[in-house]
Amino acid sequence: MNLSKPPKHIKFLDSYLNSRVCRCLFLISIALIFRAAFLLTTPLAFNPFDYWFTTSSSSSSSYLINTSGKGIDGVVRRDKFLEVPQIAWGLNNQKIAVARAFLTARMLNRTLLLPSLSASLYYKEVDLLQSVTFDKIFQFDRFNSLCNGFVQLGRLSDVSNTTDVFELNKGSGRKWTVERDLDQLRKVEKDSSIDGHEVVRIVGKNPFLWHDHWPVRDYAKIFECLVLVDEIAEEAERVVSKIREMGSQVMESKTGSMPGAQPYYVAVHMRIEKDWMIHCKKLQQRNNVTQICSSKEEIMERVGHIVGMNQQPTVVYLAVADDLLEDGSVLSAWKEGILPFEKKKLGVWDIYKKYPYLIQSAIDYEVCLRADVFVGNSYSTFSSLIVLERSQKLLRMGAVTEGSSCDITARDSNESGTRGIRWPSYAYNIPGESGGPKKWMTNMSDTSLQAISYGSNDISC
Ligand SMILES: *[C@@H]1O[C@H](CO)[C@@H](O)[C@H](O)[C@H]1NC(C)=O
Ligand SMILES: *[C@@H]1O[C@H](CO)[C@@H](O)[C@H](O)[C@H]1NC(C)=O
Ligand SMILES: *[C@@H]1O[C@H](CO)[C@@H](O)[C@H](O)[C@H]1NC(C)=O
Ligand SMILES: *[C@@H]1O[C@H](CO)[C@@H](O)[C@H](O)[C@H]1NC(C)=O
Ligand SMILES: *[C@@H]1O[C@H](CO)[C@@H](O)[C@H](O)[C@H]1NC(C)=O
Ligand SMILES: *[C@@H]1O[C@H](CO)[C@@H](O)[C@H](O)[C@H]1NC(C)=O
Repeated sequence: MNLSKPPKHIKFLDSYLNSRVCRCLFLISIALIFRAAFLLTTPLAFNPFDYWFTTSSSSSSSYLINTSGKGIDGVVRRDKFLEVPQIAWGLNNQKIAVARAFLTARMLNRTLLLPSLSASLYYKEVDLLQSVTFDKIFQFDRFNSLCNGFVQLGRLSDVSNTTDVFELNKGSGRKWTVERDLDQLRKVEKDSSIDGHEVVRIVGKNPFLWHDHWPVRDYAKIFECLVLVDEIAEEAERVVSKIREMGSQVMESKTGSMPGAQPYYVAVHMRIEKDWMIHCKKLQQRNNVTQICSSKEEIMERVGHIVGMNQQPTVVYLAVADDLLEDGSVLSAWKEGILPFEKKKLGVWDIYKKYPYLIQSAIDYEVCLRADVFVGNSYSTFSSLIVLERSQKLLRMGAVTEGSSCDITARDSNESGTRGIRWPSYAYNIPGESGGPKKWMTNMSDTSLQAISYGSNDISC
């Protein structure tokens, strides 16, 4: 989606719709179409924004903010605050927007006031967005202790004068380019008449969805500090235990399984629902590539060829859209030795059903994050963020060094009996060795989130 220019068909219509009334009706109908699309969606179902945004800038690196000099002494002002509007859309978009809000606060040397997220997935009609504060999803104190010296989270009660506010209007639309967005932030940073205010309040519609000024490494740092609150983490743990339990049962029924060994599981973020297929075919056309869409058969085939998976029965958790739970076909036709499960077959559907969209999505995210092997689509933001966090963990553990070959991740380790497989991730939409999917690691040196995925098959392995 090129946001600096409207899509062709809109531009085309533009010249015919020059009366204001007409244009207004047109925009309303677009809004209604979007809304209808969202009303029909379920958590992992088609989300038009589950792929990386292309912003106007292919040159985003030249506008990159050099943050390496900031916060080294562990000081972020705690008496100056940044307030941001409610953060909306899918889990991925919200995580990215939250990270951008923090990085903006860091740039302005301010503490970010507890932001509101959106539990539901409605688009445009802010009234329908079920607001939920950040600390209902992620741990407040843990965030501050992990991100200490880098960014800082605060509460409204920390503000001494709530009327000492400067309102900063972020623009929108195609004229609001990445350059203008950054210029504005630089002005605020330098202008002491603005900086003197206790609170800078950002006003605008979804100001953090579009423009990216930060290197991948900075996002990775923020994501590391986002730890789920206990209640949600426990639900994710229940799902993971259930998956491992299935694995144990299978292993026990076979002879020669290692006593006490923890069965591993593979998570596959399988995007094959109708809406996604239509959407990804369009993307393929627009980008003149063939590798975005993978059929169910192609995914099954490639996952079946992952080296190391052939020796023993393997439990595969399928993270799929809810509408695919109804027809059992995603569960059939897998290669012998692969035991596929989704929420229903696993018997954890009740756990998910209790929660609104955002939390359901967060549980699935966690299950994929913790999988011994993750396989996703490199064009999906959900998959890409998971791989980014997995890559960051591997780097932290010292299991890989930056810029090293991805092969190292497949070497043996002592970790929890995973027997030779250590946390690899794959992109099923790109062919790899021996008929399998391609190994996938996030390149932390990349200069923008966009650079690590969207519009490229470059998955740095
Ligand atoms: C970033 O800032 C640091 C400290 O101010 C400086 O040493 C470094 O050279 C800068 N890097 C770039 C790429 O400008
Ligand atoms: C933030 O402000 C404090 C207090 O003025 C200062 O000591 C610190 O160096 C600043 N941090 C950055 C990253 O500019
Ligand atoms: C709070 O800030 C407003 C606006 O800057 C100012 O007029 C007012 O005097 C301040 N109140 C106190 C108690 O400092
Ligand atoms: C699409 O890609 C193919 C092969 O890479 C190339 O031959 C063709 O010219 C491209 N088409 C367009 C419209 O760019
Ligand atoms: C693997 O386990 C052995 C014995 O428990 C231990 O001595 C060794 O340090 C471990 N290696 C790594 C890389 O953790
Ligand atoms: C990672 O990104 C940097 C910066 O764009 C690039 O120079 C480097 O070649 C990339 N590394 C890999 C392994 O793709």
